[in-house]
Amino acid sequence: MKKNIAILCSGGDVSGMNPALKRFVEYTLEKNMQPYFIYDGYEGLIDNNIKEANYCDVSGIINRGGTKIGSARSKRFMQAKYRKIAKQNLDTLHVTMLIVLGGDGSFRGLHKFYKEHKIKFCGIPSTIDNDIAGTEYCLGVDTALNMIKYSIDAIRDTASSFKRAFIIETMGNKCGYLALISHLTSGSELCLIPEIAYDLSAYEHKFKQEIKNGRRYFIVIAAEGIKQNSIEIAQWFEEKIGIESRVNVLGHLQRGGNPTVKDRLMAYKFITYAIDGLMQNKNESVICYTESGFHHKNLDTVVNTPYQLDYELIKFISS
Ligand code: F6P
Repeated sequence: MKKNIAILCSGGDVSGMNPALKRFVEYTLEKNMQPYFIYDGYEGLIDNNIKEANYCDVSGIINRGGTKIGSARSKRFMQAKYRKIAKQNLDTLHVTMLIVLGGDGSFRGLHKFYKEHKIKFCGIPSTIDNDIAGTEYCLGVDTALNMIKYSIDAIRDTASSFKRAFIIETMGNKCGYLALISHLTSGSELCLIPEIAYDLSAYEHKFKQEIKNGRRYFIVIAAEGIKQNSIEIAQWFEEKIGIESRVNVLGHLQRGGNPTVKDRLMAYKFITYAIDGLMQNKNESVICYTESGFHHKNLDTVVNTPYQLDYELIKFISS
């Protein structure tokens, strides 16, 4: 008898989910399994919005951002009574394996689901925040970084035409990864992230001196999770440094865009290893990527370990 396996996307979508869905359908069919799509994340799982998937569903999506099957942040799934309904829906369709593309919040829900109902699952870290313990890479990060890169490069054009400071705010929730990598690869003057305490007054003399020496503009990358908002930082530049300032909150454009080659390839690999793991009875894991390759890690450990930004990266801006 064919094994039934389902997939859902949960939380903030990332560019790379569609290539992952394509690989999911193609690989499961190749392995003689029956793939199912669960639409709109855990919400769809509760509402029984679950349908058989086939090749036609995934044709022409590899180059598209977002997710064809929708995503959601489900408050209901945090309640046991809805998780029970979710399990009944899977049982009715004889779905015994589940793949979840999502971030830490989604994995916490999955953790509860597993503890109560023992569904076999594999989590695939998918969040532009890159803030999941145990994996060095989450699906979607490279595309987000490239979207930020295009934006900063474009802002630099106008910043250099005027004498202005530009505060560019990146996403990342409480994690400074996107901001930090963008800073190191865009040549910005200042990077502010939640992981490092800062005091703007420490930069006052230096920045004033730089203007005296001919600097025309500043680019500041500010992570959304820092203590001040971007408008306050812009005001500081106007008042203390004496330079006109503008704020650009990049916002949700960071979650969109065509998946990069890296994200398409990572989607392919994450899905392949996730399915291989489930077939080899790795029944409660998150598939993580580190320098030494892909490893199945225990969900319990992943959700209960606080994420730490790579110390080597932090050193680059704290010296
Ligand atoms: O998916 C992660 C993320 O993009 C965070 O970086 C951001 O704080 C949040 O989601 C925004 O969420 P929403 O799309 O619900 O506004």
